[in-house]
Amino acid sequence: MAARNADGLPLSRDELVDNLLALVIAGYETTAGTLAWTLERITRHPDLLRRLQVEARSGDSDDLRAATLAEVQRTRPIVQQTLRRAMAPFPLGDYLIDEGQTIVVDARSIHDDAANHERPGDFDPDRYVGSRVDPSTWIPFGGGLRRCIGASFAQAEMDIVLREVLRGVDLAPTTARREPTRFRGVTYSPGRGGEIEVIRHSSPDGG
Ligand code: HEM
Repeated sequence: MAARNADGLPLSRDELVDNLLALVIAGYETTAGTLAWTLERITRHPDLLRRLQVEARSGDSDDLRAATLAEVQRTRPIVQQTLRRAMAPFPLGDYLIDEGQTIVVDARSIHDDAANHERPGDFDPDRYVGSRVDPSTWIPFGGGLRRCIGASFAQAEMDIVLREVLRGVDLAPTTARREPTRFRGVTYSPGRGGEIEVIRHSSPDGG
């Protein structure tokens, strides 16, 4: 609210509303939905859940947590498509795209393609431990000039929330079926909101 523009003037009411709306739609829903998918995924993978808890509570590393978030974003991209309009004709693979044509960049297809990711159907965060994602085939934040401007912020936020959940409570693993995907207008979120059972964990001194 206290921000100033390049001329040192405060933002107008309309600019503030625009920014707040962008934050809620682009920033809140996406991050909350990805975290909901993360809880949905890790409670269905008990061994991973245990390793994540050990990592979070020892505080030595965040490698597995970062890899898990990356794999959740690959297998459950909250925004599945981004759009581009061609400003000039150009060849794309076997096609010639005309000026003015709209191109749908489908994250789901790119993430699920065996040519891009080995065993794409497996939820396997270890694929990203000690390796970086390839920005041409891992695109949950879109790509190019208009790639999500909040990506680093969202990653830091999700890392902190997940770490604190793993430290603060025990999550009960479940054998329940995976949650279906529900389209919520812009985002594709877990159909039941990422239901989990939380157990307050006892501290080592019994408190
Ligand atoms: C897990 C969290 C998030 C995901 C998955 C996500 C995903 C995306 C995607 C796919 C795009 C379109 C990129 C493209 O067209 O190539 C986008 C754009 C954008 N995102 Fe995010 N986003 C997230 C969090 C955030 C946060 C936290 C903010 C702000 C604090 C934010 C602000 C924006 C804005 C302003 C744009 C438009 C950028 C532009 O058109 O230049 N996003 N996001």
